[in-house]
Amino acid sequence: MNALEVKNLVVKLGEQEIIRNISFALPEGTITALIGPNGAGKSVLLKTIIGLFPYQGEIKIFNENHLKMVDFIGYVPQTYVLDPVLPLTVFEFLKLTNNDEKKIEIALKETDIYELKNKNLAKLSGGQLQRVLFARAILAEPKILLLDEPVSETDIVGQKEFYEIIKHLNQERKVTILITSHEITIIHTFAQRVLCLNKSLVCDGPITELFKEEILKKLYQRDIFIYPFNRHEE
Ligand SMILES: Nc1ncnc2c1ncn2[C@@H]1O[C@H](COP(=O)(O)OP(=O)(O)OP(=O)(O)O)[C@@H](O)[C@H]1O
Ligand SMILES: [Mg+2]
Repeated sequence: MNALEVKNLVVKLGEQEIIRNISFALPEGTITALIGPNGAGKSVLLKTIIGLFPYQGEIKIFNENHLKMVDFIGYVPQTYVLDPVLPLTVFEFLKLTNNDEKKIEIALKETDIYELKNKNLAKLSGGQLQRVLFARAILAEPKILLLDEPVSETDIVGQKEFYEIIKHLNQERKVTILITSHEITIIHTFAQRVLCLNKSLVCDGPITELFKEEILKKLYQRDIFIYPFNRHEE
């Protein structure tokens, strides 16, 4: 069964066509990387899936209209603006999403940020805040996770840890994951599939598609040469 199905999706914001007639499906239980240059429409696509933008076409979650199914979607935004006049601890912030304190404790442990529980949200580093937003997304026990550059501010140790957590969620709970990233050398090690977006869909297939020079050229509109990984040994 497909967790997500997008058919002939067109998104226009103002006068601009941001997403140009794309169709794809995410089979349940898969991890898919969403790759593309700045301004390609990746964030707009994720926001449209959670119902933030109007569109033409069809978006289905487990065969139902996506607007009926938003409770099944966990979403980690690329940017998050904190309200400076609302001083909240991490725990209080998570309680706004789910009142069940036991579940909050579990989510904090699962995302390995238990030590941040009583910290003021405004005093977190960028990487720590990203992890809290991730904890918030999994608190709702989603069937699909949409992650928009969730480790862009995270150090390399934290990134590895993050990917392990995602893998666990995917393998143990069959959560379907769509994740945007610019780190194609990291993302290819744990995503099975890739969608390449630059307004239109440039590729949709196994993650190995990402290392075809002609696809990268189409995606980034310039010549891209892939060097062999063992180059430093020459
Ligand atoms: N709320 C909005 N209203 C109007 N235009 C928007 C809005 N949000 C994004 N856009 C435009 O849509 C286009 C795609 O933006 P989007 O944020 O989806 O790019 P992206 O692929 O996520 O890029 P990045 O890699 O920089 O995150 C851009 O031209 C942007 O200016
Ligand atoms: Mg973006």
